[in-house]
Amino acid sequence: MATVAQATVAGPSIRPLGSALGAEVTGVDLSRRVDDDTFARIHRAFLEHHFLVFRDQALTVEQQIAFSERFGPLEAFPEKDKQKDAATVYNVANVTADGKKLGSKDIQVIFLKVNARWHTDSSYRSVPSLASLLYCIEPLPDEAVGGETEYANMFAAHDALPEDLRRQLEPLHMVHYYEYGRRLYPELPPMTHHERVHVPPVCHPVIRVHPDRGGKRSLFFTENAGGEIGGMPLAQGQALHRQLVEHVTDPRFSYKHRWRKGDLGVWDNRCLLHRLREYDEDRYRRVLRRTTVAGAGPVVGPFSRQ
Ligand code: OGA
Ligand code: MN
Repeated sequence: MATVAQATVAGPSIRPLGSALGAEVTGVDLSRRVDDDTFARIHRAFLEHHFLVFRDQALTVEQQIAFSERFGPLEAFPEKDKQKDAATVYNVANVTADGKKLGSKDIQVIFLKVNARWHTDSSYRSVPSLASLLYCIEPLPDEAVGGETEYANMFAAHDALPEDLRRQLEPLHMVHYYEYGRRLYPELPPMTHHERVHVPPVCHPVIRVHPDRGGKRSLFFTENAGGEIGGMPLAQGQALHRQLVEHVTDPRFSYKHRWRKGDLGVWDNRCLLHRLREYDEDRYRRVLRRTTVAGAGPVVGPFSRQ
């Protein structure tokens, strides 16, 4: 057969990272504007794999913001101390803005420990975030233990629930509240009036449907913004919450990402949970930079529209 000359321009290549979720994207430079066709491919891969990592990027804050905005308008953070570079940038770092290493007892580092429990970003908002983008500036050295971000696929976790538990969860909601981090780490300063006004406790369905995946159902709860289920007696709700934590922690639902310098990860907060794996914060520097895409509307449960 005669070979046909390829008129196509080499686009990014996309390779799955594991059986649960995730894909690696190479061959694209995100410091320049990505053309619309390429972005459409990236967006389809994002919906299919839920977590994408773009390797070997070199991004300024402005370039990271510009690429992030292709997914939608960005969220600003409620806390003043996260607003180092811009209101939409969160420094996920155990070093100061001018590069000084902080100890494990520093408030900035303790705030990051709250990320070590399963969560989606901004679940404590009435409209939680759609996606997050995390750019790795200083990874841990190879010999360090921990420091990965682990992602868990909540479509798969939902589908693996026993039928009776799935039915029990259908009408339930969880109260998510930003202050829960203070319960976990009482040494954190109390929430300010500004924060209390902007992020009061909110309630979301425990089963949600995905607006860009034809209403596909997933499990939705967090471990860092609450520990009980609304509408149930306290102890019973806490026991159910613990049972769900155990369920989603099954490694068959997860992919653990070990960050390399220049990685830009983007994940869908509408169907994944994630958590930081603990590492020795006193010993190692770890610097990442996060931008967050705002949700398009409230979390929709299976019966929200009825
Ligand atoms: C976050 C987060 C995890 C990590 O930035 O939202 O959860 O591994 N980070 O730093
Ligand atoms: Mn997070």
